[in-house]
Amino acid sequence: MKEYPFSKGLEDVPAAESVLTYIDGQEGKLYYLGIPIEEWAENSTYEEVALSLLLRRLPTKGELKVFDAALRSSRDLPEEVIDFIYDLPPQTHPMSALRSVVSLLESYDEDARRDDLDAKFRIALRLIAKFPTIVAYFDRVRKNLDIVRPNPSLSHAENFLYMLTGKIPTKYESKVMDVALILHADHEMNASTFASMVVASTLSDMYSAIVAGIGALKGPLHGGANEAVLKMFDEIGSVDNVEKYIEESLAQKKKIMGFGHRVYKAYDPRARILKKFAEELSKESKYYEIAVKVEEYMMKKVAQKGIFPNVDFYSGIVYNALGISTDLFTPIFAISRVAGWAAHVLEYLEDNRIFRPSSIYKGELDKKYIPIDQR
Ligand code: CMC
Repeated sequence: MKEYPFSKGLEDVPAAESVLTYIDGQEGKLYYLGIPIEEWAENSTYEEVALSLLLRRLPTKGELKVFDAALRSSRDLPEEVIDFIYDLPPQTHPMSALRSVVSLLESYDEDARRDDLDAKFRIALRLIAKFPTIVAYFDRVRKNLDIVRPNPSLSHAENFLYMLTGKIPTKYESKVMDVALILHADHEMNASTFASMVVASTLSDMYSAIVAGIGALKGPLHGGANEAVLKMFDEIGSVDNVEKYIEESLAQKKKIMGFGHRVYKAYDPRARILKKFAEELSKESKYYEIAVKVEEYMMKKVAQKGIFPNVDFYSGIVYNALGISTDLFTPIFAISRVAGWAAHVLEYLEDNRIFRPSSIYKGELDKKYIPIDQR
C-alpha cells in the first residue's frame, strides 16, 4: 500500500495558497492583506474590511461608496423568508436558524444559478448584507417582539444593533460592534473556511459553500467557544471558585473554553483588543472579574505550553455588556466571517482544483461476506 505523510487534524498541512490573511502564531500577530489587525481595528470599518477581502486589495473611495450603498439596499429579506423565520420553532439555535435561512435564500436568487465569479461576488455582497437581518429577525421573533426593519441610514454594525434592540445605539456601542466584526472577518485556513472551500471546489453553488461554513463554525471547538466561555463563567460562579474549577478541569483533561489555538502559541492579538473593550464596558461585572482571574491562573498553569486566551475569551463579555443574548455570540462571529468565507471561495475558484484528500486504511482486506443470519 502506498505510504503518505499523515497529520491528525491536518495540522501544518497547507490546503491552498492565499494572499488574504497571515497569522504569525509564535509572535501573536495577525494581518489582513499584509496590514496588521490593530491598524484595521483602529482606522477601518467592517464594510471596508469585507470589500478589501473580496477584492484582495484596498478599495478606492468610489468602490467603497458603491459597495456600502449596495449593502444598505440589500439588507432586507423576501417576505416568504420572513414567514419561514416566524415558522421556526423558538427553541431552534440561532446558528441553525441562520443555516436554514441562508439555505432557503438560494431559491430567491437568480445569481445562484449562474457559474461566473461576478455572480458569486454579488451573492457574497447580499449574504454579508443579510446575515445581521436574519439573526436579528429570528431573535426578535422567538422573543415575541415585532421585527425591526433595516435602517439604510445606519452603518452595518449600527444597523445590526438597531435591528436587535429597536434602539439606535450610541457611537461607542457601534464602534465596539464594528471593531468586533473587523476582528472576526477572516482567519486564514480555519475549519469553517476550509468547509466552505471544500464545497465550492466541487463547483457547487455559493449558498451551499456558505451553509457549510456556518455548520462548521457552530461547534464549541471553533466559533461556538464564545458562547461556551460565558456558560463556563456561570459554572465557575465566583472569583473564589476559579482556582478549584481550573484545577479540576485540567485534572480531568477538560478544555478551558476561550484558551488555546492551533496556530497561536502566543496571546491572540484579537483577544487583546477585545479585553480592552471588556474592561471599559464591564470592569465591575462578575464576568470580567472571573475572566481576569481565569486568565491569571491559566497563565501560571499553561502559558509555558503555548496556551493563551483566544478571540473567544473576551468577546462574550463584550457582547453581554451590550445586552446581547448568549446564544447570539456565535451568529455574530458568522455575521463577520461570511466575508472571509466568500473571499477565500472567490480566490480559490480562480484556480480551482477539487479537494480530495486521502485516508489511511486501517482495516483488513479480502474478508469473506457473512450472510446476516450467520453473524
Ligand atoms: N484548555 C486546556 N488545555 C488545552 C486547551 C484548553 N483550552 N487547549 C489546548 N490544550 C492542551 C491540550 O490538552 C493538549 O495538551 P497535551 O499535549 O498535554 O495533551 C495541548 O494543549 C494541545 O491541544 P490540542 O487540543 O491537541 O490542540 P488543537 O490544535 O487540536 O486544538 C483548539 C485547538 C482551539 C481546538 C483547542 O485549544 C481547544 O479546544 N480550545 C478550547 C476551545 C476554544 O476556545 N476554541 C476557540 C478557538 S479560537 C476561535 C476560532 O478559531 O474558532
